[in-house]
Amino acid sequence: MDIKEFDEISTREIALAKEEITHVDNRMTLEQFKGKFLGKKSLLTSLYQSMREVPSDQKKDFGLKLTEMKNTLNGLFEEKEEEMKSLELSRKLESEKIDITLPGNHKRIGSKHPFYAIVDEVVDFFVGLGFSVASGPEVESDYNNFEMMNIPKDHPARDMQDSFSIDQSTVLRSHTSCVQARVMKAMAGKGPVKVICPGKVYRRDNDATHSHQFGQIEGLVISEDCTFANLLETLTLLLKHLFGEKREVRFRPSFFPFTEPSVEADIQCFECNGKGCSLCKHTGWIEVLGSGMVHPNVLRLNGYDDKKYKGFAFGIGIDRVAMLKYGIDDIKRFYTNDIDFIEQFRKE
Ligand code: DAH
Repeated sequence: MDIKEFDEISTREIALAKEEITHVDNRMTLEQFKGKFLGKKSLLTSLYQSMREVPSDQKKDFGLKLTEMKNTLNGLFEEKEEEMKSLELSRKLESEKIDITLPGNHKRIGSKHPFYAIVDEVVDFFVGLGFSVASGPEVESDYNNFEMMNIPKDHPARDMQDSFSIDQSTVLRSHTSCVQARVMKAMAGKGPVKVICPGKVYRRDNDATHSHQFGQIEGLVISEDCTFANLLETLTLLLKHLFGEKREVRFRPSFFPFTEPSVEADIQCFECNGKGCSLCKHTGWIEVLGSGMVHPNVLRLNGYDDKKYKGFAFGIGIDRVAMLKYGIDDIKRFYTNDIDFIEQFRKE
């Protein structure tokens, strides 16, 4: 074979390869192309083998031509391979494309229950004034719930709180005032007290604004020099903190067996701003808590010297405050586990 003959063979082979590469459209046909034009049984390989027979003075030219042919064929293969790789990549990208306009998976984040929002608000307020938090059991002795709070057996004041009895001497506590008795006894009649006691209480009640179970926050302060003015000031601050600085607060004389004198606090109705509406029963005021100076009998019964110590106490209905503050019409909503209801109180 001379150079001219080689050129003809090479040109034909390259033309054939160029034609065939246009039909290559997947990895398999690409591999077939590679085998046919660059593999062991290819024309190119047999031409390399025939180099042995080429006279030595032509070996160099032949060698160069063969390399050129190999590069051309290899170039066709590599170009196609590149093209295929980028096609595969763009297909992959297309299939893995993220549509950022699709709505995400909504995760529900918990929110504080309005009941506990009030507990936290009131407790934080008093902790800021240096109070500690105390608690007691919901199943309480009749003794702590009533007798230690100056409500002896057969006392008519027991009718104010229709309680559930467990047995002769045990009740579901009907108010958090019984925690006062526990705190005073734990102090063994010594030293001042400043406590706040949130908790659940139970009564035989059932209508839109009363439930058999509800929450109260009890407060108790005992010291040698605390006064009725301290009581009024503390509760005024609390109510303005809860219902707004501009909300008017008033105190009315009242009766509780465990306090003397006793008062109830009202806030100006926020529905009508004091003009009178159905919410405030046309009085312009809404009752929010009971309080008073701790009755000397209560101090004495629980081990405090009533000549040396004085105290004031108060009790706030948690559900009632939450209902007023958030405009909730039925107390049962607090206990029905209705997520749509609770979520309205989320603070973003
Ligand atoms: N224990 C009372 C009730 O459940 C509320 C109350 C009134 C608590 C006056 C007090 C108080 O500590 O001084 O209705």
